[in-house]
Amino acid sequence: MAMPRELGRRCLEHFKTGFPELYGKCIRNGIEKQPTENLEFTLDGRGLQYLNSVFRYPLARKEGATALFKLLGNMRNLVILDAFGGNGYLTRISKEIGTGAKIITNDISSFMVLCSMELGNPTTWQSADDLFLMKDGCSDAVVMAYGTHHLPVARRLPALQEAYRVLKKGGKLLLHDFENDSSMARFFREVVERYSVTGHNHAHFDREKTLLLFRNAGFRETSVTTLHDDFVFRNGSEKESLADLLEYFYLMYGLEKLGDMRAQKTKDKLYALINEYLGTKCSRSGKEWECRASREAVVFIGEK
Ligand SMILES: C[S@@+](CC[C@H](N)C(=O)[O-])C[C@H]1O[C@@H](n2cnc3c(N)ncnc32)[C@H](O)[C@@H]1O
Repeated sequence: MAMPRELGRRCLEHFKTGFPELYGKCIRNGIEKQPTENLEFTLDGRGLQYLNSVFRYPLARKEGATALFKLLGNMRNLVILDAFGGNGYLTRISKEIGTGAKIITNDISSFMVLCSMELGNPTTWQSADDLFLMKDGCSDAVVMAYGTHHLPVARRLPALQEAYRVLKKGGKLLLHDFENDSSMARFFREVVERYSVTGHNHAHFDREKTLLLFRNAGFRETSVTTLHDDFVFRNGSEKESLADLLEYFYLMYGLEKLGDMRAQKTKDKLYALINEYLGTKCSRSGKEWECRASREAVVFIGEK
């Protein structure tokens, strides 16, 4: 793996060469800084399992991601910063559904950043609460999704202030996550925290407090909505679709402390937990079978 400083340079070089116009519009010159690594999504944490889950099941979150994009209206040529971008999942879905948006994938983890670059995405290596590479007012939207709860509560206001700074006037911040009392937050607290290789001790979101943070960060128009964000798996039979769902959860959350995933008793235990917390539903869908685990996300919207 590239050394930190070298990675920062390679990342910018890759961005500049592949996307000169977007680079010129958004990236400050001459910044030699690097974020403090978050170890959860590295090779030492659950980075590799996570990547396996998104590579094997790239469309599992397509419905939710598409609904999230819809909140931005026509996305053609919009410049969007995906602040917790991982290896570029939202870019993958954006291409799949043909939005025509120009998405910059940002992440704090060097491992995710390397992977995003390898996939050819314009990529930045920063923490969402310190977007030191980004010019003021360069972006039509900032999306914080699928990972926002990893930001400590005390760093949430600085992150919203940074998003505000990076947005154009009229630009939108979408903050997608799960409410503190939601079934998904309970699943994170009681299942992922217990069985994941890294644990998962992160606070989720409270409506009133988050809307206040938006206002304190400067957003004039703020609103909140919910969004169905099920994990969805399609395969030739019910058994295969369900097996996909279980494998996805195991990899996505690095649930190794549940036991060996090849063992039937591990599969049974995981299935019981998913059913207890989220619920699963399988049905025929044309020639295929579809299995889904249900989730309801919350999305806070702020307009600059
Ligand atoms: C659950 S993963 C989701 C990645 C991607 N959004 C996806 O849907 O596949 C959460 C990501 O947030 C990143 N992350 C955690 N804290 C961060 C921070 N302060 N700033 C930017 N990224 C962060 C992690 O490194 C990880 O890649």
